[in-house]
Amino acid sequence: MPPASPVPGCSSGEVCTLIMATRFGWTDIGIPSSCKTCSVFRLLVLTTTHLPAEVFRREPPCSPVVAEYLEPGRSAYPARVPSRQRPVGTVTRGTTNPNRLRRCDRWIAGPQAWRLRRSVQPPVVVDLGYGASPITAVELHDRLRAVREDVQVVGIEIEPARVAAARPLERDGLSFRLGGFEVPLDGGVRPTVVRAFNVLRQYAEDEVAGAWSLVQERLAPDGLLVDGTCDEIGRRAAWVAVDASGPVSLTVSLRMGGLERPSAVAERLPKALIHRNVPGEPVHAFLTDLDRAWARSAPRSSWGARQRFLSTVAEVRERWPLLDGPSRWRLGELTVDWAAVAPTA
Ligand SMILES: C[S@@+](CC[C@H](N)C(=O)[O-])C[C@H]1O[C@@H](n2cnc3c(N)ncnc32)[C@H](O)[C@@H]1O
Repeated sequence: MPPASPVPGCSSGEVCTLIMATRFGWTDIGIPSSCKTCSVFRLLVLTTTHLPAEVFRREPPCSPVVAEYLEPGRSAYPARVPSRQRPVGTVTRGTTNPNRLRRCDRWIAGPQAWRLRRSVQPPVVVDLGYGASPITAVELHDRLRAVREDVQVVGIEIEPARVAAARPLERDGLSFRLGGFEVPLDGGVRPTVVRAFNVLRQYAEDEVAGAWSLVQERLAPDGLLVDGTCDEIGRRAAWVAVDASGPVSLTVSLRMGGLERPSAVAERLPKALIHRNVPGEPVHAFLTDLDRAWARSAPRSSWGARQRFLSTVAEVRERWPLLDGPSRWRLGELTVDWAAVAPTA
């Protein structure tokens, strides 16, 4: 077991071990357990696992706020907060996982890096709805620092205990605050990127447009909202890129090894599309065409799944307006113009 480490900002002074359950097993994350904030963090982190709920309930509840959110599912915002101060949105399940959002991070740090580089001021990137543990915000900061060393990543969560739990991990260029789709930032700063992953999926389809439009209003001139969804460990992901003018693209990113067919991403489509994967809708036609091309490319499997995927996408490009090229396809990723897959009215 790795040695425990002190956490900056924790007042308890006591250093002991805190373990985090992930699909990889139990991980020592070295949080002092006698600090109330850290205890909150502990309970919340535990809720991100796939262990049965009874396991969590046996943990001594360290705060009534946490107890409210131990039950999986959607919760109302705490009634004691006056409505005018409430962030826009609804507290939802905080499920997250380390490295889960790597595919989207790679895209932001790749084809979208120009947005960060062009910013005269240090660019602000928001991880909206980072969940029960702030791990995805920490990873986003690590990855984007390679693009712009002065990038400011701000994790925004609608659930107060999750913000308190994340604060001990603040560092230069990484901070956490309470908020919702109104994207509150100091001094009215406008974010260059807002990544909202696995957030809107727990809302109703007819809530998407309103949420997008609130975030759009906040974006910097070159800014982008990335509204995405993925599976528990990030092997299948899809996201819609929305700029100030509206949605611009749909990206699908898949782990190619062991892929049965590209439409495996269907159950991870963003909320704006997931209910539209039915005959007659463009996104259904797109996924069906991908599957057919994948089937026709089966002989390429002898050179590996990547060659099969490259051949699949090269064929599909003849019929669909893809916005990227082989360097992205090699990663199991493809981006199509939103206009081609947008839902019918
Ligand atoms: C399923 S978790 C996703 C965590 C992380 N983004 C990921 O993909 O692993 C969704 C989180 O979004 C938060 N959330 C929901 N609506 C929100 C909103 N309007 N603004 C900020 N956070 C929100 C929930 O409280 C929850 O913690």
